[in-house]
Amino acid sequence: MKFAVVADAHVGFGASDEILERAIEAINLRNLEFAVFLGDMIDSSCGDEPEGLFDRFLKISGHLRIPKRFVVGNHDLAPDFPERREAFREEFLRKTGARSTYYSFDAGIYHFAVLDTLEVLRGAVGATGRLSGAQLEWLKSDLARLGPDTPVVILSHHPPFPADQFRIENFNEFLEALEGYHGPSSHSCRIVAVVSGHRHFRETHVVDGIRFEVVGPLSFGLWDMKEVGYTVVELAGTEARFIWNPLAPSPEAP
Ligand SMILES: [Fe+2]
Repeated sequence: MKFAVVADAHVGFGASDEILERAIEAINLRNLEFAVFLGDMIDSSCGDEPEGLFDRFLKISGHLRIPKRFVVGNHDLAPDFPERREAFREEFLRKTGARSTYYSFDAGIYHFAVLDTLEVLRGAVGATGRLSGAQLEWLKSDLARLGPDTPVVILSHHPPFPADQFRIENFNEFLEALEGYHGPSSHSCRIVAVVSGHRHFRETHVVDGIRFEVVGPLSFGLWDMKEVGYTVVELAGTEARFIWNPLAPSPEAP
């Protein structure tokens, strides 16, 4: 099972529309099951009028010839326009067809749980994520109903690691919800990986035997990371390989 992960496309910022078009073309040439857009599809904080950006994103991503799954990110929700945040959340649901901003789906033998780390907007432009108590209860019950050894991938915009403000602030409660779902003594489903974006760089953490993968950005890198690109995830049993696919940066990239 192979799928694409496109994180932090930030349509509306710089030349990100053009980079997204190239990513879609590249993904269409591959034999992948589906593509996940891991949040910050648009950059609704980039100008005075963020309306229309999600339609721009959907028009470009609509060229993809495989199914699409969407994870909500802070920049998808007009973080700089508090009075518009709810409208952006409603638009996201209506136009992606998702029944909720957190949900799960199955593909092959794998179960995927999609989180919304933005139910409560934290910090400047939602830099910090948080999982509500209701969502954590949903996650626990979603995992508990799975058959033994069902491999699970969790998708979230904010990661729980590394430790700074750009992560899920109640990561301990998140880890508690995953307890018992990893390691050789587990008699239930197995967490293969937790895949996140938001940080615009690449990093892997293994905590309590769970792999937490932060994938690289499509639009622009931060800190020491200058590359942009997308990730292909190869799943085999309970093993996951993350293959970074750099794209040539736009001449207009910062
Ligand atoms: Fe983000």
